[in-house]
Amino acid sequence: MGRPILKVMITITTIKDMRDYSAEVRRNGKTIGFVPTMGYLHEGHLGLVRESVLTSFRTVASIFVNPAQFGPNEDLDKYPRNTEKDKELLEGVKADVLFFPSVREMYPEGYSTYVTVEGALTDTLCGALRPGHFRGVATVVLKLLNIVDPDRAFFGQKDAQQAIVIKRMAKDLDLRADIRVMPIIRDEDGLAMSSRNVYLSPIERAKATVIYKSLSAAVDLVKKGERSVREIKLAMSAMLEAEGVRTDYIAAVGADDLRPVEKIKGRTLIAVAAWVGSTRLIDNVIVER
Ligand code: PAJ
Repeated sequence: MGRPILKVMITITTIKDMRDYSAEVRRNGKTIGFVPTMGYLHEGHLGLVRESVLTSFRTVASIFVNPAQFGPNEDLDKYPRNTEKDKELLEGVKADVLFFPSVREMYPEGYSTYVTVEGALTDTLCGALRPGHFRGVATVVLKLLNIVDPDRAFFGQKDAQQAIVIKRMAKDLDLRADIRVMPIIRDEDGLAMSSRNVYLSPIERAKATVIYKSLSAAVDLVKKGERSVREIKLAMSAMLEAEGVRTDYIAAVGADDLRPVEKIKGRTLIAVAAWVGSTRLIDNVIVER
């Protein structure tokens, strides 16, 4: 009888089992889409999973809070976690597998190998302020891609520099996976979704909306013909300061090479890293001239 088959997501915790699963899918000539995350999932993550489900026969999402990408004074220990809720959300968007390895599984005793994307792509923006961050990201993403062996892997434009660094690594190291970057998913008031938004008090949450407001003001200025990065940054910093939001940077850089620009010309990434209370948030827009 036509009873619907209930498709249940499976959770894999070891590298060996993950490899065996992927090898089996690939042996049957089918494709794998992969969405790496650090968990505490929101619509930004789920959008990536949906895209993978649409484009690939099987979708693997991973949850791994990667110690290698956190600095000594960063939020590794208090990074939010809720794996049971995450599993429900992943099942809801029809992921096939959650890969959920332990730190021990990923970095066993004696672990010594790291991947560094050197130069302009990592010297700037968050790379300049979070030494070792992109080394940790590149290392774990390369490991995950080796383990899961997907045909395509999905990343968010929210972490624009991360996406560019990973694309560069994939190209330089001849990785098989196609790296796809999806648009930023925002809350109704414009705040970019982030697992770290949970740190914000209600008052901070309201203040945080000024980040996207300042980026939208930059887009409007460019539309009106403003080309001077200096003027755009001044307008943005005035808005952010008025809300008491301290910035790590407001930057305008080439959208592909991340090199600083003085005049808006071609595809330009305008990016902000800002502190709302003790929470560091990032956001960006791309303008084109
Ligand atoms: P995490 O912050 O959990 O994000 C996982 C993926 O979701 C990243 O590709 C990120 O860019 C994307 N993402 C987050 N918020 C988004 C939003 N509002 N809209 C669209 N995409 C969004 O980024 C990481 O984890 C880690 O550095 C990781 C790549 C997993 C390596 O550890």
